[in-house]
Amino acid sequence: VSSAVRLVCGLCSAATDDLSLARCPDCGEGLEVDYPDFEARVAGLDWPPRPGAGLADRYAPLLPVRDRGGPTLGEGEAPLLRSPRLETELGCGAVYLDYEGANPTGSFKDRGTAVGVSVALSLGARAIGAVSTGNMAASVAAYAARARLPAVILVSHTVPVQKLRAVGVYEPLLLQVERDHGELYFDSLELGRAFGILFLNGDHPFRLEGQKTIALDVCARLHPARPTVVVVPLSSGGNMLAILKGLRELERAGLLARVPKVIGVQPAGCAPIWDAYVHDLPRIRRVERPDTLAGSIRNPFPPSGNRVLAALRGSDADVMTVTDGEMVDAQRRLATEEGLWVQPDSAAAVAALPRLRASRLVGADDLVVCVLTGAGHRDPATPAAEAVAAEPVGFDELPRRLEAFVGALA
Ligand SMILES: Cc1ncc(COP(=O)(O)O)c(C=O)c1O
Ligand SMILES: [Zn+2]
Repeated sequence: VSSAVRLVCGLCSAATDDLSLARCPDCGEGLEVDYPDFEARVAGLDWPPRPGAGLADRYAPLLPVRDRGGPTLGEGEAPLLRSPRLETELGCGAVYLDYEGANPTGSFKDRGTAVGVSVALSLGARAIGAVSTGNMAASVAAYAARARLPAVILVSHTVPVQKLRAVGVYEPLLLQVERDHGELYFDSLELGRAFGILFLNGDHPFRLEGQKTIALDVCARLHPARPTVVVVPLSSGGNMLAILKGLRELERAGLLARVPKVIGVQPAGCAPIWDAYVHDLPRIRRVERPDTLAGSIRNPFPPSGNRVLAALRGSDADVMTVTDGEMVDAQRRLATEEGLWVQPDSAAAVAALPRLRASRLVGADDLVVCVLTGAGHRDPATPAAEAVAAEPVGFDELPRRLEAFVGALA
């Protein structure tokens, strides 16, 4: 770890120098990385950054890593694509799609894993781990292989084996435990501390430092224009907090005039943070019967839910829900009209746009960025992909079939 960082509780503000902790020793909520020498760090930052091979090349002063960071697979610098279609449909200033599916293992998780692995090496962790069924498990297993660090992936007994293939190819220790997924998250923190395994779960403070580079990359790309609204799918809460942190640090550094409105999107069938916010509850409550096909954002009791709730109340950030139908429709149209195949979960941000526009959370002059968090091929078991069928045609019929195809074009 470069010049000292410490961890500060995102809710009660208690601080600790024990970098092996992920949650607050006082109140149990998530911790975040704090840079006591923030101003000196900012002085060492190039803005906008020169292109580089990994996150540390571009943003080392704002990350808890040594100059060049640790092993990289070339994460970040995802394509930021303008969508004239969505701009016309919504009647708003500009809409950009941040295609995080272009990351090495197909999701934004690679940003967080890259920084997490780098910190794990400098802390002398014996191994890294994750409690995950999908994107994060694949990401941690891949970066562990790159770093030559052993990895442990814990999955709940309810996870089907076909979801584990994209994880197993990297040959981590893959353990399927008879235990609820949410409980395993807390178990892993305790067991990880006992055995020297750094579990880089969804809202781990060092993971979030990597994921905040979503905000840094987006602002660097748009510079000197700036986003006014950022929309992101919301599950554990980690990524929304990470994006907010990145934006706030840019503002504090004098590199961004104003923090955009960050809007988290939850599936209507599993929306504990939205529920607590709209009903003005003091804390999130568990969703007893989660019901959505968006598996990556189906989290009935998000471990950073209370911190997101505090962020919603302390800023102009907001939260919205979308139905499965809206996600699947947005997913299909992103593929067929924009050439972007994303997971249904990742289409949530785009699915929310019509409602955000109708409710004036997005206005006519806004510059909107939707974070498309993961590639479609990471989760092919979705309606859009399962409905795929090839039309059988005899070789003799082929010219006539093509003639008909071209004829229909005119
Ligand atoms: C594709 C995808 N989108 C969004 C999310 C939600 O991120 P978070 O859990 O940090 O809120 C995840 C988390 O696993 C994900 O895999
Ligand atoms: Zn605390």
